[in-house]
Amino acid sequence: EFIGSFADHVPVVLSKPSSSEVVPEVAFAGRSNVGKSSLLNMMCKRKSAARTSKTPGRTQNINLFLVKDLKARVYSMVDLPGYGFAKMSKSLQKQSSDFIANYLASREALRLVVLLVDIRVPPQDADIGAMDLLAELDLPFLVAATKVDKIRASERAALVKGYAEAVRLDAETILMLSSQTGEGKQALQAAMLDALFS
Ligand code: GTP
Ligand code: MG
Repeated sequence: EFIGSFADHVPVVLSKPSSSEVVPEVAFAGRSNVGKSSLLNMMCKRKSAARTSKTPGRTQNINLFLVKDLKARVYSMVDLPGYGFAKMSKSLQKQSSDFIANYLASREALRLVVLLVDIRVPPQDADIGAMDLLAELDLPFLVAATKVDKIRASERAALVKGYAEAVRLDAETILMLSSQTGEGKQALQAAMLDALFS
C-alpha cells in the first residue's frame, strides 16, 4: 500500500486511517495492458507507485493506493489486474475475472469505477462483459479512452463516435486520456472527486 498525495501536492505521508473510518475508493479497470497502472501513477504524481509493463498481465494483485486531495480528504485509488488477456490460460483468466468481479461486488466504499478502453479497436467482448457487470451491480462507472496520444487528431472524433455508438453511450461522456501527455487529467480528477465526495 502506497501512501502519498494527489494532483498538485507533493507526496505527504499520512497516518493510516483507523479501520473504523470509511475511505471511499475509485477503481481503475480494463483489459490487460490498457494503461491502468500508468494512469494511476499519473493521477497520484508518482512515476512508479504502481508497476507498469509492456507485457500484458503485469498487475496480478489488487493494490490500494491511499491518497489525499487538495482539501486533505483521504481516499484510495485501486489498481485492478487486467482482464481478457488472451495469452493467459482459460482457467487463469476465469480465476482473474472472478477475483475482479468479487472485488467489485463486495466493496462498500467503492464509489466509481473508471473503465479504461482502447477506442482504436472495436469494443471487445471482455469490455462489454465488464460494462454489463457494472450495470448489474449498480456501480457508477465512466468509460475512458487511454493512450489517446497514439491517435491522430483527424481520426479522434470518428473513433469516439463509433465506439460510443457501439456501447450505446453518449460520445461526450467518454473521457480522453493519455498518461504520456497528461491529457484528461483535470477532467478525470473532477469526475473522481465528484463521485467520491459529493
Ligand atoms: P496490466 O497490469 O497488465 O493489466 O496492464 P495495465 O493496464 O496496468 O497497463 P500499464 O500501465 O502497465 O501500461 C501498459 C503499457 O502501455 C506500458 O508499456 C505503458 O508504458 C504503455 N502506456 C500506458 N499508458 C500510455 C499512454 O497514455 N500512452 C502511451 N503511448 N503508452 C501508454
Ligand atoms: Mg497494471
